[in-house]
Amino acid sequence: MKAYTYDRFGPPEVLALKEVPTPAPGDHEVLVRIRATTVTAGDWRVRSLEVPRGFGLLSRLALGITGPRQPILGSELSGEIEATGRAVTRFRVGDEVFGFTGTRLGCHAEYRCLPEEGHGRKGEAVALKPAGLGHGEAAALSFGGTTALSFLRKAKLQRGEKVLVVGAAGGVGSAAVQLARHLGARVAGVCSTANLALVRSIGAEQVFDYTREDFTRSGERYDVIMDTAGTAPFSRCGGSLAEGGRLLVVLGSLPEMLRAPWVSLTTRKKVIGGVASWGVEDLRFLATLAEAGQFRPVIDRRYRFHEMVEAHRHVDAGHKRGNVVVTV
Ligand SMILES: NC(=O)c1ccc[n+]([C@@H]2O[C@H](COP(=O)([O-])OP(=O)(O)OC[C@H]3O[C@@H](n4cnc5c(N)ncnc54)[C@H](OP(=O)(O)O)[C@@H]3O)[C@@H](O)[C@H]2O)c1
Repeated sequence: MKAYTYDRFGPPEVLALKEVPTPAPGDHEVLVRIRATTVTAGDWRVRSLEVPRGFGLLSRLALGITGPRQPILGSELSGEIEATGRAVTRFRVGDEVFGFTGTRLGCHAEYRCLPEEGHGRKGEAVALKPAGLGHGEAAALSFGGTTALSFLRKAKLQRGEKVLVVGAAGGVGSAAVQLARHLGARVAGVCSTANLALVRSIGAEQVFDYTREDFTRSGERYDVIMDTAGTAPFSRCGGSLAEGGRLLVVLGSLPEMLRAPWVSLTTRKKVIGGVASWGVEDLRFLATLAEAGQFRPVIDRRYRFHEMVEAHRHVDAGHKRGNVVVTV
């Protein structure tokens, strides 16, 4: 099969289209013929090793000391089942599915094997594709969707609470706005001028243009602030949290994460960081919402497979709107 591989960390140009062996499904696995994948902020970080302050060494240890341990990027896919392992009962050849591989990656290829039941709360997961979505949209359901869901759950979001999403136009932010709304919250967003209308259209009641105004000076208080842009540490936005408020640090530095327990001990507010977790049931939940029209991944641009390097360049710029899809 054809796949984009890389053997050293660096800019988009380290990627090369190569012929690699097509994987064979194990007894409990399905082989998916990939029709669409995405390039996410995660792919950019893993490829370039550009990680938040303080995470350099940890990232090297996790991703590879001398070079990338996993040579194929891509954490999202949508496609059809091409073959099934002997013990598979949930899926049949020809089923249309979407999947998420998290940090195990491997989706920038023509085929990927996935375990039919998923691998715990951090591994690989596959579910039936919602019928109303094309492969491009289905491929874009998981990265932003599972991250937003995971953090909103950590915050124990209640109906009627006020949520502010910083970076509301990005892959995670645009999912968070829609999912917080679905969970009954009143949602506000922070983005640049060009994205104000988009963020309103997906459910934000109030939108701040960070190029012109500072939400921390508005006098508004929120029960939950989700920072997906790394611009709202507690030192800046603590005053915008209501009593009992939670700051969700989707993107933040290691020193900020290490200070989190101190905030919880000394104030009636909480800083919650860490990494997202997900399971196959989350994919099924996102598919159900998508089917019902309550969650729709925002698609910025679509690229063809031979334009993969171009797609990475766009994501590297740090201003994509929602998701970048690559048709395979
Ligand atoms: N902790 C975890 O488990 C976890 C999981 C997934 C992702 N992440 C991290 O979360 C971050 C966001 O991911 P993503 O997929 O949403 O990335 P993305 O789609 O690339 O997000 C880019 C968005 O950030 C916005 N932005 C840039 N500067 C901003 C600013 N100063 N204020 C407000 N918004 C700003 C941009 O909006 P404008 O164009 O309007 O500026 C753009 O829409 C990434 O750094 C990723 O590594 C963490």
